[in-house]
Amino acid sequence: MTANKSFLPGQLWPDNNGVHINAHGGGVLFHNGVYYWFGEHKIEGEAGNAAHVGVHVYSSRDLYNWQDEGIALAVSDDSKSPITRGCILERPKVVFNSRTKKFVMWFHLEPKDVGYAGSLSGVAVADNVTGPFQLINAFRPNTGVWPLNVPDADKRELSAAELGGISGMDLNGGPRPWYPKQLLFRRDFAGGQMARDMTLFVDDDGSAYHIYSSEANGTLHISRLSDDYLSPAGKFIRVLPGRFNEAPAMLKFRGRYFLFTSDCTGWAPNPARLLTADTIFGNWEELGNPCLGPGVEITNTFISQSTFVLPVHGKADAFIFMADRWNPANAIDGRYVWLPVEFRHDVPTISWHDEWNLSFFDK
Ligand code: DGJ
Repeated sequence: MTANKSFLPGQLWPDNNGVHINAHGGGVLFHNGVYYWFGEHKIEGEAGNAAHVGVHVYSSRDLYNWQDEGIALAVSDDSKSPITRGCILERPKVVFNSRTKKFVMWFHLEPKDVGYAGSLSGVAVADNVTGPFQLINAFRPNTGVWPLNVPDADKRELSAAELGGISGMDLNGGPRPWYPKQLLFRRDFAGGQMARDMTLFVDDDGSAYHIYSSEANGTLHISRLSDDYLSPAGKFIRVLPGRFNEAPAMLKFRGRYFLFTSDCTGWAPNPARLLTADTIFGNWEELGNPCLGPGVEITNTFISQSTFVLPVHGKADAFIFMADRWNPANAIDGRYVWLPVEFRHDVPTISWHDEWNLSFFDK
């Protein structure tokens, strides 16, 4: 096998066995000098849009060459398991908890045969970075907790009349003119908040956050995790209600928080968005599309959708924007678009490169 010496965004990416890497919607954990890439293992055809195998993990020391480390979290053969084969298991992210010494995985989980109506979060734990991870919870987060950033007057459950007003509404997970942007978090107070596309972010002080598309995808939530990272800590905010942000991917640069997101258009690409705030529970504002030309499809995030921001170890201010070029007709053939983040006036931007390597960050 010839070693990979560069990134080739959008092209096949062979692992140590010469097989295209199978870790979609993924994230990367750096642990003890090694990078671990966790992602959705897809199978061929449209069937691959559901989970038939589990979460795949690869390891690398140089970010170009990845060794297949197998399945970190396997789907279950038990039809009663929340992660039974055929469920939807998306966007897994893994963090290491230095107090408990456990590796903790969160992912978006849809029980088998409910489409995207479940909107659950799955949590799994392992003693070893490559697994096996064991599922410990499948639930809707923030049950019985009000967001920190809503007026006290809105901290009340829906009345029967309000509930009647939204029942039967088509809230299919994409922008709708009638989207009731101040009602769904109140509806879901007692049963837990909907949680779909997600990422995890560990801040400099070790506090961790679960960032997920909630309220039928219309509103992002940023939710603090407990000290062991296994559950919500009971503190969360709503971000840009009614703006319909998916595919969150966080970075912190010089004390400021930046969040890449996308619009909600299913598997089809759309323009990326950049959000920013000076504290994680602060006021998030939208800065626009971070993709710059010249290059292919800057209005469609280079035909991809964000999944994670990877800080490059040992290089200052070096981050890789990780995105998926989905192929819903043949899910296993989804490609990876990894591009360097370039700061202009302290704001992250992304430009297309047919081929690039880490020396980009030495400029
Ligand atoms: C867009 C999301 O970003 C993906 O993770 C996936 O849920 C697709 N929608 C499904 O259509």
